[in-house]
Amino acid sequence: MYPAIRDILFRLEAEKAHALSVNLMRIGGSLAPVRLLLRKWFDVPDKQVKAFGLTFRNPIGLAAGYDKDGLAWRGLDCLGFGHIEIGTVTPRPQEGNPRPRLFRLPEDRALINRMGFPGKGAEFVARRVNKPQPSKLVLGVNLGINRDTPLDSAGDDYISLMRTFAPLVDFLVINVSSPNTLGLRSLQARDLLEDLLQGLRDERDTLQEQLKRQVPLLIKLSPDLSDDELDDALDTITGNNMDGVIATNTTIGRRDLVSPVAHEIGGLSGMPLSKLSTEMVKKIHARTAGKLIIIGVGGVMDAQGVREMLAAGATLVQLYTGLVYQGPGLVARIMKEL
Ligand SMILES: Cc1cc2nc3c(=O)[nH]c(=O)nc-3n(C[C@H](O)[C@H](O)[C@H](O)COP(=O)(O)O)c2cc1C
Repeated sequence: MYPAIRDILFRLEAEKAHALSVNLMRIGGSLAPVRLLLRKWFDVPDKQVKAFGLTFRNPIGLAAGYDKDGLAWRGLDCLGFGHIEIGTVTPRPQEGNPRPRLFRLPEDRALINRMGFPGKGAEFVARRVNKPQPSKLVLGVNLGINRDTPLDSAGDDYISLMRTFAPLVDFLVINVSSPNTLGLRSLQARDLLEDLLQGLRDERDTLQEQLKRQVPLLIKLSPDLSDDELDDALDTITGNNMDGVIATNTTIGRRDLVSPVAHEIGGLSGMPLSKLSTEMVKKIHARTAGKLIIIGVGGVMDAQGVREMLAAGATLVQLYTGLVYQGPGLVARIMKEL
């Protein structure tokens, strides 16, 4: 049935179609009978995974960027995700980049976005996640800095967000890899990352003591790092005792695309990213001797993509663009095939 719905959605401007799907999931997720129906429809077998002190009902998660403001996660939970990462959330609300800023590349099974962290800000999102959590869902929040925050104050933004969200969710992700906030990705360089992570590690340790539980802190990486840059980042990440990495965010690379909008500026996701991100997961796994937990993301469109990510060394896998092209039954289909 989804191909017919997708045809209708794809006639709408990409961001409008996205907003419509978020709204449907928000409304559906707020109604107990609809949640029950969705769960029955998208019946997903359990295949538990344990990582950083948490138990996931299955390895498939929803990547950041779909539910930026934490509006729809209760509905999305009914599609069978083992975990959902909401955000990116910034401390203060902001508009993001001018529209259009999201483009479909159907011929390439891809998207390009230059959203620039539009969102309602931390206070709003904290109210949205401070609701009873379905008992099996693991919820994470992806944290970013406001556009007008100078890079040398980035740590202050991340720390204020950690304080807001650590008591409310299961894990936190530091986003230093979005290509759509000027300069953000330079925080992955050794010296800047070292300064940043020292502060964040101390804050995480304090929060763990206060909350008397583990507060997993993960770093989301860009697929565009060179081998040397990746080595530097991994040294710093393991040296500061981070709980894991998410590999990868979108790429600014444009190889072998055929869609007419391939020249649009922004981050590319979907099928053309698959090889790059899977290779990156392989490298991270090899260079950290399998000791760093990796969430693999980028171009996962089906069960085969999940298998490849897991074989490359990922413990958990996320997807976003696959959901746009394959529809809400994707997690159920994958888990039945795995
Ligand atoms: C429209 C859109 C918005 C995104 N927004 C965010 C974001 O706010 N924060 C983030 O860390 N990643 C964001 N991403 C990146 C995804 O989380 C993911 O890393 C990337 O799309 C690769 O996975 P995919 O090929 O399965 O989509 C976004 C991706 C898309 C397509």
